[in-house]
Amino acid sequence: MYNLLKGKKGLIFGALNDKSLAWKVAERAFEEGAELVLTNTPVSLRFGTIDELAAKTNSIVVPADATNEKDLEQLIQKTMEHFGGKFDFILHSVAMSMNVRKGLKYDEVNYAYLQKTIDISAVSFHKVLQTAKKLDAINEWGSVIALSYVAAQRTLYGYNDMADAKAMLESIARSFGYIYGREKKIRVNTISQSPTLTTAGSGVKGIDGLMDFTDRMSPLGNASADEFADYCITLFSDLTKKVTMQNLFHDGGFSSMGMSLRAMNQYNQSLDNPIPAEDLI
Ligand SMILES: NC(=O)c1ccc[n+]([C@@H]2O[C@H](COP(=O)([O-])OP(=O)(O)OC[C@H]3O[C@@H](n4cnc5c(N)ncnc54)[C@H](O)[C@@H]3O)[C@@H](O)[C@H]2O)c1
Repeated sequence: MYNLLKGKKGLIFGALNDKSLAWKVAERAFEEGAELVLTNTPVSLRFGTIDELAAKTNSIVVPADATNEKDLEQLIQKTMEHFGGKFDFILHSVAMSMNVRKGLKYDEVNYAYLQKTIDISAVSFHKVLQTAKKLDAINEWGSVIALSYVAAQRTLYGYNDMADAKAMLESIARSFGYIYGREKKIRVNTISQSPTLTTAGSGVKGIDGLMDFTDRMSPLGNASADEFADYCITLFSDLTKKVTMQNLFHDGGFSSMGMSLRAMNQYNQSLDNPIPAEDLI
């Protein structure tokens, strides 16, 4: 405990259950002295366990669909009423792809689903920022963070149309970060997190093998959900005031790796025992 968020107030999207990255951030933010408002969709409120988190962190829960501008306006107004004025940080921890859920491959996507993926997982971030700016909801030197993944830059089979959504999300952080920084001194960043076993993470094709691969390939190993929360706290704190418009990798070094010695040894070994061509899809 460092009291890094003492006196700060924040709005957290996306805590579904105790596996959610947003859940861990809420717990850590509370420990560091922040006051919180939590939000999720009405459906997720019913199926998840957010009330438990609200009780634990002494916060209120306001339902909102992050793609719905009216919901967002009401959410931010209610958040300001609750706090008695402006607040200091927002976590956008929201994503969904029906193409992934239905197991449709990237070269066979359903375009109605693709549009939904982009709306929920990328454009909603713009909507949150635009609504917060319009209502002048965030204090100077406030901080807004959304969650990304390395598939925005590099192809990882199975991540599907979420890769396109994350690329757009990172671009929105830069484009909005410029305007919000210049006009209101507010930071906007994305954190690109290691694969993590959450409800959304478990939907990614081959997540177990992928997590093992990235863990072995990263010099520091995969970053856990708790470590993600720690990093997030630093970015909400006053210790990182001049960090904005960045996509910040929190992945044990994975994104900078090409080939490790260990993986090379394993690769060479398996060349002696090749996998039958029909199994290599
Ligand atoms: N788990 C991973 O491996 C991993 C890695 C990098 C980035 N991320 C990102 O982290 C974020 C959080 O995911 P998570 O892994 O904690 O899984 P999660 O399933 O716990 O969280 C996803 C959240 O998005 C919410 N959501 C979906 N549609 C919404 C809508 N229309 N409006 C508001 N909320 C909506 C869900 O209710 C849920 O709470 C996502 O952006 C995800 O892409 C996850």
